[in-house]
Amino acid sequence: MNYQLINLKVFGDTRGSLISIEGRNNIPFDIKRVYYIYDTTPGIARGKHAHTDLEQIIVCVNGSCKFLLDDGIRKEIVELSRPDLGLYIGKNMWREMFDFSHGCVLMVLANKHYDENEYIRDYDKFLKEIIT
Ligand code: TYD
Repeated sequence: MNYQLINLKVFGDTRGSLISIEGRNNIPFDIKRVYYIYDTTPGIARGKHAHTDLEQIIVCVNGSCKFLLDDGIRKEIVELSRPDLGLYIGKNMWREMFDFSHGCVLMVLANKHYDENEYIRDYDKFLKEIIT
């Protein structure tokens, strides 16, 4: 499975907590894009795609949500519920996000600019692409 959970160091003191993410330092790539998902409609699922050429780190900076991760052979569910945990997802992994809590904010760091051409949004096409 081309995913990994990364523990992020927390700089905490009596004032609160701070986490720093630096490209090629505590994550494996240089960051070219940041986006965040919030105000999700209750009960909805998002994602439902794979990337042929993209690496991402996802941090649930508030609330919680679940990820279904699927490499075409195995499926695993990962829950993100803390801001000091990064979920790395590499290429050719189908992902679906669901069970968003109220107030959930997902921050996503990516190694490339947005390119719709490297998305696979059809599950059958995903299965065909990974076996070829
Ligand atoms: P979408 O891929 O449907 O989001 P999710 O993976 O959470 O289900 O993206 C929603 C819209 O945002 C879609 O019109 C594409 C656009 N978008 C960008 O313009 N830039 C980006 O970096 C991303 C991730 C999405």
